[in-house]
Amino acid sequence: MLKNKIMSHKATVAVVGLGYVGLPLAVAFAQKGYKVKGIDVAQRRVDQLNQKKSYITDVPSSAVAAVVKKGNLEASTDFALLKTADAIILCVPTPIKKRYTPDVSYMTSACQSVAKYMRKETLVVLESTTYPGTTEELIQPILERGGLKAGKDFYLAFSPERIDPGNKTFDVTRIPKVVGGLTPKCTELTAALYGQIIKTIHSVSSTRAAEMTKLLENTFRIINIGWINEAAMMCHKLGIDIWEVVDAAKTKPFGFMPFYPGLGVGGHCIPEDPLYLYWKAKKYGFSSKFIRLSADLNHNMTAYAVERVKELLKDKGKSLAKANILVVGVTYKKDVRDLRKSPPLRLLELLKAQSSVDYYDPFVPYLNITGISMDSVLLTPALIKKYDCVIIAVDHTDVDYALIARHAKFIFDVKNVYKGKKLKNIETL
Ligand SMILES: NC(=O)c1ccc[n+]([C@@H]2O[C@H](COP(=O)([O-])OP(=O)(O)OC[C@H]3O[C@@H](n4cnc5c(N)ncnc54)[C@H](O)[C@@H]3O)[C@@H](O)[C@H]2O)c1
Repeated sequence: MLKNKIMSHKATVAVVGLGYVGLPLAVAFAQKGYKVKGIDVAQRRVDQLNQKKSYITDVPSSAVAAVVKKGNLEASTDFALLKTADAIILCVPTPIKKRYTPDVSYMTSACQSVAKYMRKETLVVLESTTYPGTTEELIQPILERGGLKAGKDFYLAFSPERIDPGNKTFDVTRIPKVVGGLTPKCTELTAALYGQIIKTIHSVSSTRAAEMTKLLENTFRIINIGWINEAAMMCHKLGIDIWEVVDAAKTKPFGFMPFYPGLGVGGHCIPEDPLYLYWKAKKYGFSSKFIRLSADLNHNMTAYAVERVKELLKDKGKSLAKANILVVGVTYKKDVRDLRKSPPLRLLELLKAQSSVDYYDPFVPYLNITGISMDSVLLTPALIKKYDCVIIAVDHTDVDYALIARHAKFIFDVKNVYKGKKLKNIETL
């Protein structure tokens, strides 16, 4: 019966947690004609959606407006909306507490609320990135507290979100979806549901395999980014241009995938997800050396960048303490507004403690977060000339790099935006 409702688009789909992951998903289901109930604890987000406005760069307000106007998307902070839901998808945060420990409080709190209103024959899918075993060990017991049995009275599955904010080619509907249910029926229903908005569905044998898939992907990234950052530091000592070497290596049509150096890893995923795996493996007496090493390597890149700037300024007869520095780009990656765990923010903090520093970022007009309260400057020739060093920390598309190159005394180009052009006064990481 549930499958028929899903296939005929008559099922009501609820999305709990309307952030970078939940909102695109909610809009995608609503665009396919499903009645979607969006639940979030943040009143401001709910109000914005009901006023037909988006707060996520990748989801245009016009898309939100169209589905809200049609009556296909309704947002609320009230979990009672779940009473009518046939499928409930959980997209809440999974941050890290201090000392490499997962903070599962968002998942437990959301599940407790879901358990209050969930009916028989409902499909519940967890999308939040988390350690292998979460769905069965943490989510299932909470959902069963009301007396319903998972796999029998309701269906339970894990399906990792693999969205890449800012990626114009692969939106949520174009990324193959991995699904793993508690039982084959749970997997079948989950595959049927996502199959309505996503072309390629890949089913795995268990919720654990699906949970581990996402962690394998993100850990692969943190390790490779750690390695390329180490290689960049090594190449600098050897007097070799790492960017030239990566460009050469990537001409190999197999067995190599390019990663690029930078200030480390940021956002809600790469710095944290591997630590969920690290924590879980520790419980089984297994200590992952790769995860620990790459997390440390990436974390230290901001301090390394400051040391490089210090040396480069010294060569020009200027001490860091007396220097005026401009950091261009403060988000964790290009073309997004997301500041979570952003390495350029660590860079700003380190520089602020030792010199005079401003920032420019077209996505972030002001900063008011722990330890930093600043406004973005406006780039003018006169202002650029004032700085002893301009650090290109993020390669946003909409920055006038030519203007910077024309007027800057000196540029430390962390992202190689000038692509090795032989411009004087430019050094790369
Ligand atoms: N951002 C990404 O690129 C990305 C990609 C893939 C997977 N993920 C994973 O998806 C999950 C969500 O990440 P995100 O980036 O969308 O986070 P987010 O912070 O952008 O959104 C989470 C939303 O959940 C809401 N929320 C918190 N507690 C809640 C509760 N108890 N009930 C209802 N709503 C609640 C918050 O108010 C927020 O709007 C995380 O596990 C993350 O690791 C994120």
